[in-house]
Amino acid sequence: MNEKLYSEIINALVKDGYIIIPNALDENLACGLKEYAQNEKDFKRAGISGSNDLHLDNQRRRDKIHWLNKDSSFQSDFLAFTDGLKERINRELYMGITYYESHFAIYDEGDFYETHLDSFKNSKNRVVTTVYYLNEDWSDEDGGELVIYDENNNFLSKVTPHANTLIVFLSDKFPHEVLPAKKRRFSIAGWYRIDK
Ligand code: OGA
Ligand code: NI
Repeated sequence: MNEKLYSEIINALVKDGYIIIPNALDENLACGLKEYAQNEKDFKRAGISGSNDLHLDNQRRRDKIHWLNKDSSFQSDFLAFTDGLKERINRELYMGITYYESHFAIYDEGDFYETHLDSFKNSKNRVVTTVYYLNEDWSDEDGGELVIYDENNNFLSKVTPHANTLIVFLSDKFPHEVLPAKKRRFSIAGWYRIDK
């Protein structure tokens, strides 16, 4: 059912290394995931991988996260989609992905995430990133855009976090940042990993 979308993503990863897809999945799924995130109370302050200093992390990112699980049919459906994509990537791009991890993120008013790479040079565990947005009625004045740069830090694209927009990119090639949100912003960030 998602084969066409998977093909589009695979082709883009080969050609450009990234893709931005508006209206990617079922609208009901986008709504259901948003409702789940809105009702979930257990969000924790996010840290930077490899850092134990929450104070320092707070200067660089201010979102709160909750890891996805299969507690709801919406999460299961989303994970079924990402699992199908994993199979296609491994089959066609031979990346040897072992698993996918993902979390909901809330950016409250003023929250941001400074420019970063999702994969660190010394630990290439994260190979492909997905970001999926859950915000209906997001206007240009609401901020919170994702800005994507190329390997030389040249601007590539600015993405409004509209509900049902999906972004996929190679984790070690595209620095990106989240501009300060002016109202509460929901997303799901996920990573395909190659750890044993
Ligand atoms: C991340 C990230 C982007 C977003 O969590 O690493 O870059 O738009 N998130 O939520
Ligand atoms: Ni990131």
